[in-house]
Amino acid sequence: MMEHIRITKRVKNTPTVVSLYFKWNVKVLPGQFVMVWVPGYGEVPMSLSQTEDEKCITVKAYGDSTKKLIETEAGEWIFLRGPYGKPFSSTSGNKLLIGGGSGMASLKPLIDRNATGIIASRTFDELLFSDEFDEDHRIEVTEDGKKGIKGIVTDGIEAVNPEDFSMIYVCGPEKMLKAVYDKIKKLNVNAEFSMERSMKCGIGLCDSCSVDGFQVCVDGPVFNMKQLNGMTEFGTTRLLSSGKRVKI
Ligand code: FES
Repeated sequence: MMEHIRITKRVKNTPTVVSLYFKWNVKVLPGQFVMVWVPGYGEVPMSLSQTEDEKCITVKAYGDSTKKLIETEAGEWIFLRGPYGKPFSSTSGNKLLIGGGSGMASLKPLIDRNATGIIASRTFDELLFSDEFDEDHRIEVTEDGKKGIKGIVTDGIEAVNPEDFSMIYVCGPEKMLKAVYDKIKKLNVNAEFSMERSMKCGIGLCDSCSVDGFQVCVDGPVFNMKQLNGMTEFGTTRLLSSGKRVKI
């Protein structure tokens, strides 16, 4: 059922990313997503970056819908339905959160004293939620080299021993997910990856989000290493909302 929800606060996190806060008395687990309807533009799947009573979606302007959504001000209303999808598994042990670009948004609800973050972005001013980690538990990686390690996310992994963590959680552009997967697949690790795909229904009806027989909206968006192993489309091709398959 579509719900009409008032935005209580708008925070600009980076030059291109905005967080919209709202009260919504519905249980949402880290990694699950909602479908946000932008009138005149359509629906977009959004993970929640805060899952307590006060909830939050963190939006990066990619397409027309998100460009419009990002302009929403406190006091204005949005429409959403959900939550949908499989959440991240929980762990009481120490965890490594690897987020590229705006991917750290869906990992943010997992941040606690046991979390170490690898936060990667193209430019230093797009590092997202880096300050949420303790100073000695964050590794920043930027392609422009103006902050942290100069390089890409896999260079950040070099700074830790992935096998020291009881769980690794990864979210970001699919090319990045694949690079991380390839880097750690031979190690003795447990890891979960949140995958983004074009979605229409969000509830397993339209097949627009299918990947190698999985439907990302109901079987994911969180997948473990075993599920990703053997997915030939993972990190290689994706369906556009038009139905056309393109290279990633
Ligand atoms: S979005 Fe329709 S089946 Fe997944």
